[in-house]
Amino acid sequence: MKIKNFITFEGGECSGKTTIINEIVKMFDEMKISYIQTREPGGIKIAEEIRDIILDINNTMMTPECEALLYAAARMQHLKEKIIPNANMGKIVLCDRYLDSSIAYQGVARGLGIDKVLNVNSFALDYLPDLTIFIDVLPEVALKRLSLRDKTDRLDLENNEFHNLVYKGYHEAIKLYPDRIKVVDGNQPLEDVIKDCKKIILDYIGE
Ligand code: TMP
Repeated sequence: MKIKNFITFEGGECSGKTTIINEIVKMFDEMKISYIQTREPGGIKIAEEIRDIILDINNTMMTPECEALLYAAARMQHLKEKIIPNANMGKIVLCDRYLDSSIAYQGVARGLGIDKVLNVNSFALDYLPDLTIFIDVLPEVALKRLSLRDKTDRLDLENNEFHNLVYKGYHEAIKLYPDRIKVVDGNQPLEDVIKDCKKIILDYIGE
């Protein structure tokens, strides 16, 4: 089943997703379009609490399997409690990350395999986004940006190889879902990236 009006944003670390989503929100406010803005892992109390466990810098013992299950658990609660009800009310749901993050990070970068990750997320497979925007930033560009940022969570501590694999993982997700995932060149100046994202969204919602 597809939920109408469910739009997700994907990308590796330092892809500019958060700034881009904030610009889309401003555009929707100006256009008086009804929406909610949310994120994964998180978006609601239970999922934010799961997020704290996953990203806790001290949880170095966490296995890839445990990590994948926790992301999937947070996702299902978020989906049932927030995404589906709001989409059913006719609001556009703008979500920072969703299933494709698990494909890239847990499936490929952590080496669990995409099939296992899809199995773990089998409930969420019934609710794929209508549109996903992937901000494609070359790993070397992202890593340069990451080196300038404070390391705030457990995933920020991963090495270059991990981030290269995340990039590869996203391109595997694009091969699996070529119609749903639209790729935006994230290596351009941010204002151009924002312009491209706005165009895709306006085309999608028919404005
Ligand atoms: P954020 O920094 O975009 O808020 O995302 C938090 C981190 O969680 C980021 O490093 C990506 C990671 N992540 C996964 O590894 N798998 C997932 O399924 C999701 C949603 C996020």
